[in-house]
Amino acid sequence: MPLPLHQTQLQQRLLNSFAAAFGGAPAVVARAPGRVNLIGEHTDYNDGFVLPCAVNFDTLVAASPRGDGQVRVVAADFADATDRFALDGAIARHPQGGWPDYVRGVLAMLRGAGLPADGVDIAVAGNVPQGAGLSSSASLEVALAVALRALFRLDHLGNADLALLAQRAENEFVGCNCGIMDQLISAAGVAGHALLIDCRSLATTPVALPADAAVMIVESRVRRGLVDSEYNLRRQQCESAARQSGVAKLRDATLATLEAAAPPLAPLILRRGRHIVTENARTLQAAEALAGGDMRRMGELMAASHASMRDDFAITVPAIDGLVALLQRAIGTQGGARMTGGGFGGCVVALLPAAAVAAVREQVLAEYRSPESEAAIVHVCYPAAGAGLLDTGQCASDRPAERAP
Ligand code: GLA
Repeated sequence: MPLPLHQTQLQQRLLNSFAAAFGGAPAVVARAPGRVNLIGEHTDYNDGFVLPCAVNFDTLVAASPRGDGQVRVVAADFADATDRFALDGAIARHPQGGWPDYVRGVLAMLRGAGLPADGVDIAVAGNVPQGAGLSSSASLEVALAVALRALFRLDHLGNADLALLAQRAENEFVGCNCGIMDQLISAAGVAGHALLIDCRSLATTPVALPADAAVMIVESRVRRGLVDSEYNLRRQQCESAARQSGVAKLRDATLATLEAAAPPLAPLILRRGRHIVTENARTLQAAEALAGGDMRRMGELMAASHASMRDDFAITVPAIDGLVALLQRAIGTQGGARMTGGGFGGCVVALLPAAAVAAVREQVLAEYRSPESEAAIVHVCYPAAGAGLLDTGQCASDRPAERAP
């Protein structure tokens, strides 16, 4: 199937960058998508359920082996900025942080797991909106892991192994304490489907989206402040709720367990726990509603999820509450809308009939303004396939081959 035009251009940008930095064409090119979560927020690190889909925005990684223990990286999206490090000894974080640490982290985790990975030339290019909460970093980690699996013949690593490796790069190397959702949906997404993920067993169940349903992602332009500190605080509060209720993880709790805790949970901890318990139930119900094509029920569950994130989990902000309300009014009972992702800014996701997209988009662009008076950015997406290799037959650069020093 021919790639959509923007994807072809992206691929060309990648190959040009690779050729300019290293000479010639790469041995492999891998792609991994960003994601949007339809429902199941902050449930992943509580061993619960999530229902994300991969979206048609990708990070591409081109790579060739070097055989000398050196890693060289060029980032097409950052004016061909480069990074360079050696694989001997411990791999350190980049002094300036940022994108190089995702590359360094994945290689550090591979080496740390005792897996063979030698020197490599790497180029990166992507079209996942950055900083919007659509998992551009997870898609970079997963695309790189897929490329390295092919280069170093690590065929025994399945999608879940790659996702776990990428998550460890994020947790242990970059220092972001995320769950498994973003990496696993990027690695294992199924075209045309959302994935119901059991974050305890890592079992994934594809759930087809109704044929006439559109996935709309609306960037609120609200800067995501305090994300790391508040995210970590919510994790701690969930752990307290579980511990004080006598369960290993909130996945194992019910509202009755939470209410029976002795001594009673503090009101704030009870609310945090209640969000997770009710969100897990909603996510399972949403998978059923979606599979049955029941968009009205799906809309009700998305509305309840948003209210729970706002009132019990306290991760929404007023501008996003307003944007969600606007979308809910515009869509009516034909679908739904809710904030998606970690919270405190980022995106809203809406499910709606494809026939309603134009009118809803127009209304959002006309009526919504961020606190800094910016209009929203609206993307209409389709659920894409998870990560994989691209056919390297397509990998001809339009630059002459020249070997870099
Ligand atoms: C971020 C994290 C995920 C998940 C969501 C909230 O995207 O990376 O692991 O916890 O927040 O659902």
